[in-house]
Amino acid sequence: MLDVKGLTKTFGSGSNKLQVLKGVDMSIETGEMVALMGPSGSGKSTLLNIIGGLLAGDGGEIVLGGKSYGQKSPSNVVDVRRDSVGWIFQDFHLLDNLTAVDNVAIALELSGVPSREAVAAATVALTKVGLEDRMNHIPDQLSGGQQQRVAIARAIAGNRPILLADEPTGNLDIASGKEVLQLFKDLCHDEENPISILMVTHDPDLASNADRMLLLNDGKTEASDIRSAWGLDSEDGGEEE
Ligand SMILES: Nc1ncnc2c1ncn2[C@@H]1O[C@H](COP(=O)(O)OP(=O)(O)OP(=O)(O)O)[C@@H](O)[C@H]1O
Ligand SMILES: [Mg+2]
Repeated sequence: MLDVKGLTKTFGSGSNKLQVLKGVDMSIETGEMVALMGPSGSGKSTLLNIIGGLLAGDGGEIVLGGKSYGQKSPSNVVDVRRDSVGWIFQDFHLLDNLTAVDNVAIALELSGVPSREAVAAATVALTKVGLEDRMNHIPDQLSGGQQQRVAIARAIAGNRPILLADEPTGNLDIASGKEVLQLFKDLCHDEENPISILMVTHDPDLASNADRMLLLNDGKTEASDIRSAWGLDSEDGGEEE
């Protein structure tokens, strides 16, 4: 459903020139939850931004749900941002004065969905992330994990086929991070309406729970088996609930 082929991206020029992506090839199928790892500065956010239509690459191609882009300027991929990609960030980006249901509904309203429909869809999405009893709470009245689940509800409410998550558990404690990861897996493996998730994480324990791991290294992605590399196969981490 997502194909990235030979994607390149260079920042700056002259002596400041930095080739961050040197020909990234990767695919994600519907229903897959993929963890993207790599050292700081290796280009993970850059890759997500190009896939999400927020930044143009220099070379190569992205095909997502039948649309081809990758080198197009962000102003020419409005449809990708509006219809295809949901975003989840480390700091949840919720509006402080709006309730959970309004935080989710406003995103739909901004994309043209009538208010009543938006609230109905927001209610469905919040129920899906387990917040049916927190609909009318504002962010300050929610835990970090609950706030992130509101952000996830916002990302899935528009029925977009792929979610891009840039360190979604970075501000959460270990237990809440695991809950978010489980929720991601449930959303991907949903029998009726499976989606795909590409998640950047620095946490090898979380990454090892994804369906698949990719390592971004020296400008290219490679399949990775960090589970064994980090010695996680023995399952004796001692921090399970
Ligand atoms: N707009 C820009 N202009 C110039 N250089 C940039 C720009 N955006 C990113 N870079 C550089 O590109 C490299 C990759 O950045 P990126 O943010 O993609 O890394 P990352 O893998 O997400 O790192 P982290 O794990 O720290 O978030 C870094 O060296 C960064 O300084
Ligand atoms: Mg980053």
